[in-house]
Amino acid sequence: MDWNIIFFVIWPYISLTLFFFVTIYRSVVQPFTISSLSSQLLENKKLYWGSISFHYGVVLVLIGHLVALVIPKSVVLWNSVPLRLYLTEITGLALGIWALLGLIILIYRRLINKRVKVVTTWMDWVVLLVVLVSLITGVLVATLYRFGSYWFTGVFSPYLLSLAVFQPQVDLVAPMPWLIKLHVINNFMLAAIFPFSRLIHIFTYPISYLIRPWQIVLWNRKIRTQKSL
Ligand code: HEM
Repeated sequence: MDWNIIFFVIWPYISLTLFFFVTIYRSVVQPFTISSLSSQLLENKKLYWGSISFHYGVVLVLIGHLVALVIPKSVVLWNSVPLRLYLTEITGLALGIWALLGLIILIYRRLINKRVKVVTTWMDWVVLLVVLVSLITGVLVATLYRFGSYWFTGVFSPYLLSLAVFQPQVDLVAPMPWLIKLHVINNFMLAAIFPFSRLIHIFTYPISYLIRPWQIVLWNRKIRTQKSL
């Protein structure tokens, strides 16, 4: 069988099936296991710098991917002016490097801090490795195969949409260089491990804040008056 069929048809469907069904199963049957299991109390300084950089960088990069997927024609139009194309590319690359630096701090923190290392599971290491590969391959693709924001709309927007309508157009991806293929295969790995790992905490924030009932916070202690001071 053609390797492209395995990696760009069969593998994506296995990955997306795991992603959707195990996420729903876990949310319904084991809702209290959905957490990011914070280690903030064990170490805060490196977590602050690593987490802020990683999360802001990766969320903005993924919003960029989503925009290219959902409104590809508008992205092509936007990129038709060279200055705007350069700005898009430089911004995407800078955000990718920012996220990568943040992730390196987070990995370093788990390696050197004994208390954090003790509470790190093997699945946490798998997640860190797969996300690391995503960021390194993404940054390399953006650097070596210019201009990605342009050809994404002609290759990956129709490919990903073809998967969504169950008519996979593997011929769009097959001629791509192996580095780009690795980026995509690895991102389906990320989707596959999502419901089995702490990544699932993404669904708890900030959605629960939008739909949960109002809270009234009461202080259960006497308020010190001027007189008692
Ligand atoms: C199947 C889904 C994905 C596809 C098809 C895809 C494809 C691409 C392409 C074509 C580029 C080059 C863009 C450019 O040069 O402007 C890119 C860049 C990048 N990707 Fe992805 N990607 C996917 C998912 C992800 C995910 C889930 C992550 C992070 C966890 C990620 C992280 C990055 C980073 C950091 C860059 C470099 C920054 C940028 O140019 O935006 N990608 N990706």
